[in-house]
Amino acid sequence: MPDQPSNDMLDLEEFQAQRASLFRRQLGREPYDLAEAWEFARPNAERRGMAATLARAKSAGETVVIPRAGVAHWDAQLELMRTLSAAGAGVVPITVDSLTRSLRFEDAAKALAQSTPDRSVLNGYPLVAHGVERTRELISAVDRPVIVRANAIDLRIVAETAFASGATGFVSGPMYATLEYSKLGSLAESIPNWQFIFRLMGEYAAHGVPIVEDAIGFAQSGTCSVPALMHVGVVLDALIMAGQGVKHIVPYQMLQGHVAQDVAGCIAVGTLTDEYLAKLGFGDVRTYVASSDWNGAFPAREPDAYGLLAANVFACAIARTPVNYVKTIEEGIGVPTAAANAASIRFTRYLSHLISRQAASLISPEVEFELELNLMEARAILDAVLDMGDGDPVRGSISALAAGVLDIPFSPNVHVRGNVLPVRDADGAVRFLDRGALPLPAAALRLEAERLASRRARSGSGELSYQDVIDDLSFLEFEEPTLPEGGDPHS
Ligand code: 5AD
Repeated sequence: MPDQPSNDMLDLEEFQAQRASLFRRQLGREPYDLAEAWEFARPNAERRGMAATLARAKSAGETVVIPRAGVAHWDAQLELMRTLSAAGAGVVPITVDSLTRSLRFEDAAKALAQSTPDRSVLNGYPLVAHGVERTRELISAVDRPVIVRANAIDLRIVAETAFASGATGFVSGPMYATLEYSKLGSLAESIPNWQFIFRLMGEYAAHGVPIVEDAIGFAQSGTCSVPALMHVGVVLDALIMAGQGVKHIVPYQMLQGHVAQDVAGCIAVGTLTDEYLAKLGFGDVRTYVASSDWNGAFPAREPDAYGLLAANVFACAIARTPVNYVKTIEEGIGVPTAAANAASIRFTRYLSHLISRQAASLISPEVEFELELNLMEARAILDAVLDMGDGDPVRGSISALAAGVLDIPFSPNVHVRGNVLPVRDADGAVRFLDRGALPLPAAALRLEAERLASRRARSGSGELSYQDVIDDLSFLEFEEPTLPEGGDPHS
């Protein structure tokens, strides 16, 4: 393996050698036979392929609603997938459990043995323990494309098992998995792991099995961020995917409850991903923007959770994104029941159906303002990152992260400087309180500061502090102040 990873395509022989040693090390066996896998996967993808479903939705101006869902027992997973499909999920998920995600395949198998159709001892489907044959049966029993969902810095065996089993969608990439999901992993270590997966997808695509990959980038996990910064990560993930031959990419926009900013984010992330893919010579890659429901603290009260889903659906419907990753009214409680998941899908489809036809009239001057600011900021950061790698996004990302030219707030990862702080303005849109060393243009900084003026004025000291940043973490939970017993709320 080269010391300094780059965006060059992994040589086929080198890839095959890596497969052999990976399977031996992590599973104690030979790699899956790819020619045999393609024989199964090709007709499967023709019948239920995610790329075709998304392409149809994009050209018709419709939205495919996709939930997250996984339980340990095979029978229960099938029942769950059928329930979600009946509720209108256009693609059905297999969310993989955390033990499998962290390569603890034997522990996952033990927990599977203790699980029943009514009781899951795992927080998802133990894909490797079930194995290729059983998962092919599962996928073949539902007439919808299947996406396998997981996040970690080494999902190579999970990806191999997913595609050999007939999954036509997969999630994540090095930016998100490393900087949002890992404490110690570095980009230099994790990018080659992800390039392996993207190279595998490229091989499947070249043999008639298109596979879709979600580029989540710097969509925050658990907290908010400035949309432009989230997009930078999406574009970098997408460029690294394309470098290895991935042809179908889903750029993500994580929604944050401010409708105009969210709409602009959905539009911007598509524009930026297409623009930079074309710039780096990957113009043949197809993209399908996904709006994804708020990824932070959700209200535990069901009516409030419906309210938050509604704010998210408004944004997605106005932006007419081809994909909506829906959360559930039980997100604030834990892993959702099938019924709660189905209700959330149905709610999303209903509201999306109602609002999307009004989309054109709802693109306001505020949306235009956010869009312009967003594109200006994201391009400035992306151009600086690419410059630092002499045009190579892998080299650029590694150098830029070390220099703080790439930086994100609230990262659990020790390699991130963490000097950037986001804060909501008085209307709830997310702004930079501290931009760290991000190379933002002066015009953007001026606009950011202007937008924060009214919240500053509202605070006692006229300044915003770290406490305001903390308060924003529960912004979407809307807790009423507790009143003393018998207190008069109007006094
Ligand atoms: N079933 C449903 N949703 C899940 N998530 C994680 N595991 C599961 C599962 N087994 C959801 C979380 C969060 C997102 C990252 O994935 O609730 O919304």
